[in-house]
Amino acid sequence: MFKILKAEHLAENIILMDVEAKRVAKSCLPGQFVIIRVDEKGERVPLTIADYDREKGIITIVFQPIGASTHQLAELKAGDTILDFVGPLGRPSDLVYEDIEELKKKKILFICGGVGTAPVYPQVKWLHEHGVGADVIIGARTKNLLIYEDAMREVAENLYMCTDDGSYGFKGNGSQRLDALYEEGKSYDHCVVIGPMIMMKFTCMATKKYNIPTVVSMNPIMVDGTGMCGACRLTVGDEVKFACVDGPEFDGHKINFDEAMKRQAMYKTAEGRALLKFKE
Ligand code: FES
Repeated sequence: MFKILKAEHLAENIILMDVEAKRVAKSCLPGQFVIIRVDEKGERVPLTIADYDREKGIITIVFQPIGASTHQLAELKAGDTILDFVGPLGRPSDLVYEDIEELKKKKILFICGGVGTAPVYPQVKWLHEHGVGADVIIGARTKNLLIYEDAMREVAENLYMCTDDGSYGFKGNGSQRLDALYEEGKSYDHCVVIGPMIMMKFTCMATKKYNIPTVVSMNPIMVDGTGMCGACRLTVGDEVKFACVDGPEFDGHKINFDEAMKRQAMYKTAEGRALLKFKE
């Protein structure tokens, strides 16, 4: 059993939990995920690691209650326990394998949207701890949905906040903020984009325009996170990949987002899942 040490709302419908999971905290790296199961009847839910404290043995997860299992998780409070908390799973972010001195020469930008801001945080923090600066754009539909501003400000070189409705920071989305940065004379050598699928699709189109190699995290498409359900199957260039086994990070300019979004929509309903299984 894994004890919940903290449970709080970061924004409307976005919940943060600190969970005692010593073995996961000991070995996890930015970009990896865990699979949780609240109780024996619960579904397996893959959630990206949003932070870790190796000394205290704590893993932070951030999620939106969407299906039955995440709603069940959302009802738990500090002191309650989670039956399974398995990880770390998935390949860590490519950035952690690069030569630090080479990374220091690069101009790195993270563009994150909504709950996708949480998995960006450990990557920017890891870079900061290794002396590598990175700029970050955090976007959301409106002010109440922005998360991680204070924490990110501590680790980012420059932080740019934006909202679609202009209620906080720049008025516009992450791609429009990127356009504005280029107009101001900025440029980047590497970009990481994490957020809803539609946001990643359009942000990748924008980074392609500026020839910025771009990595996306395909966590939103995962269902069981084990390589068995087939939900996370992707076309990347001319290859077929599974987000949970081969990723979650991929070259954002090679992903067929339209196909991925169609699969994601199908997997939202039991009928859709049955239909996809039948077709395969
Ligand atoms: Fe089921 Fe990857 S999430 S196969």
